[in-house]
Amino acid sequence: MKAICVFNQKGGVGKTTTVVNLAAALGLKGKKVLVMDLDPQGNSSSGFGVDKMNLENTVYDLFINDVKLEDIIYKTEAENVSIIPSNTSLSGVEVELINTPSRESVLKNALEGFEDFDYIIMDCPPSLGFLSINALTAADSVLIPIQSEYYALEGVSQLVETINLVKKSLNKDLEVEGVLISMFDGRNNLSLEVVEEVKKYFKNKVFKSIIPRNVRLAEAPSYGESIFDYDSKSKGAVAYEKLAKEIIKNNK
Ligand SMILES: Nc1ncnc2c1ncn2[C@@H]1O[C@H](COP(=O)(O)OP(=O)(O)O)[C@@H](O)[C@H]1O
Ligand SMILES: [Mg+2]
Repeated sequence: MKAICVFNQKGGVGKTTTVVNLAAALGLKGKKVLVMDLDPQGNSSSGFGVDKMNLENTVYDLFINDVKLEDIIYKTEAENVSIIPSNTSLSGVEVELINTPSRESVLKNALEGFEDFDYIIMDCPPSLGFLSINALTAADSVLIPIQSEYYALEGVSQLVETINLVKKSLNKDLEVEGVLISMFDGRNNLSLEVVEEVKKYFKNKVFKSIIPRNVRLAEAPSYGESIFDYDSKSKGAVAYEKLAKEIIKNNK
């Protein structure tokens, strides 16, 4: 089993879009995938059509109520993809656990010995806080989406610092799965410059697959569908399928 945490403390860089569509792509390739939604906004939950506010259990119960993992895993419509959903109840969890020792490791401990899936893909909130730290501590690797826009690398040094801190104290085996360029627009010179800049910074850690700006990717979530159910011929679908292939190959 491989647990990949999709992380960037910036909002709107394509984390959730990547979680939903990478998970769906891996599922279509026959991999058993568990999505873990760690964002109180619950966007990856709604991206899979989960009715967030009418759930018996969410990821919140994993942190607070010590429920069994099996009791918070829901099947999605996407082939081979299950999800541990989240909703706004998760936003108070950090304060509720303020006196808990090793509260950075709650998720890691919950996943101990859990091997029911080939991949776990975690969606992080846009912050460096408690939930992201839990995800980075529980994960085998981190996938960093970077939006090809003017300030692409702004905040990246802080991001790398956070990963290094987690490696030092909480999860020494954490690796960088790869850096993913998202919302790429080939007609735009700036996008091309950003790719060069990101490659200069992250060297061979940058995925060969690049996600284009594609309106179909932005439309799919409002139907509660991955891009493969919404428009499997779109450029976005082709790109996420390529990314899934690359990740499977890298993990052989
Ligand atoms: N490749 C893309 N092409 C077009 N729109 C995209 C693409 N990736 C993400 N979006 C849109 O951009 C917004 C932010 O993406 P999202 O995945 O929610 O980012 P994050 O989870 O990092 O905040 C969303 O409205 C999403 O639909
Ligand atoms: Mg998100």
